[in-house]
Amino acid sequence: MPPDDSNSLVCRGTGIDLEAKTDQTDPLVTGVPGYLQDVYRWAYLEPLALTVFDHQAMVSAILWGNYHRLARGVLEELHAGERVLQLASVYGPFSLQLLDALGPDGKLDVVEVAPVQIARCRRLLEHHANARVIPGDAAAPPEGRYDTVVSFFLLHEVPEDYKSRIVDAALDRVAPGGRVVFIDYHQPRRWHPLRPIMATVFALLEPFARVLWTREIESYARHRGGFRWRKQTFFGGLYQKVVAERVDPPESGMAAP
Ligand SMILES: C[S@@+](CC[C@H](N)C(=O)[O-])C[C@H]1O[C@@H](n2cnc3c(N)ncnc32)[C@H](O)[C@@H]1O
Repeated sequence: MPPDDSNSLVCRGTGIDLEAKTDQTDPLVTGVPGYLQDVYRWAYLEPLALTVFDHQAMVSAILWGNYHRLARGVLEELHAGERVLQLASVYGPFSLQLLDALGPDGKLDVVEVAPVQIARCRRLLEHHANARVIPGDAAAPPEGRYDTVVSFFLLHEVPEDYKSRIVDAALDRVAPGGRVVFIDYHQPRRWHPLRPIMATVFALLEPFARVLWTREIESYARHRGGFRWRKQTFFGGLYQKVVAERVDPPESGMAAP
């Protein structure tokens, strides 16, 4: 009988190690999952990456000019005074825009795993007493309930098992009446001129992204009950926004007035 590898921490099909490596001699990677070290070191773990990528113009260019439209897709789901959990930091002013939308009574927690990004995000938010950067894994965010949980271009960067863990954790942290907002890649239409370019980028640099062309984000949730799901695509289908709204009935025994 073949050995049961269901608990293996090596991502099937890629051989990429999912386990956080414990190389205490390299502060750039301490606590960082294996896939991030193996695939995205150049983009997120090296200090030089900030010089290259941490600019509004660069973020917009990577998204083919769609950054504002996609960020607006998140901002329009927020309400002043809410508690928001952002899963992983984002280059550019994204977190500041969330704070603007939340106003002084809102609260923002950002969970980020890479030391260089934790430090960058703390600098970005240092003058905002209502924002915290929490070192940790988006697949195991801090306990607590939030009105909105945001995942902005995180899922396409993580292996399949991780996608499920992040989606489950996001759904678990949403308060009744709240929502999770996912913005990510999606399958572009057949005629889309960028389709072959994006397929090549994914093949060369982003091995966990292409699956979002064929698999719905909703399907990663292990328990989908209690949520109303909606989806919208942008820019010829290349991007998607998926919102899961928590519609749990009130706790049993608490009769509605
Ligand atoms: C959210 S994605 C956003 C990508 C987008 N292209 C941008 O402009 O930044 C990138 C961030 O996710 C972080 N990240 C990746 N996997 C993570 C995980 N499991 N937990 C927390 N943060 C993670 C990376 O360290 C990086 O800072």
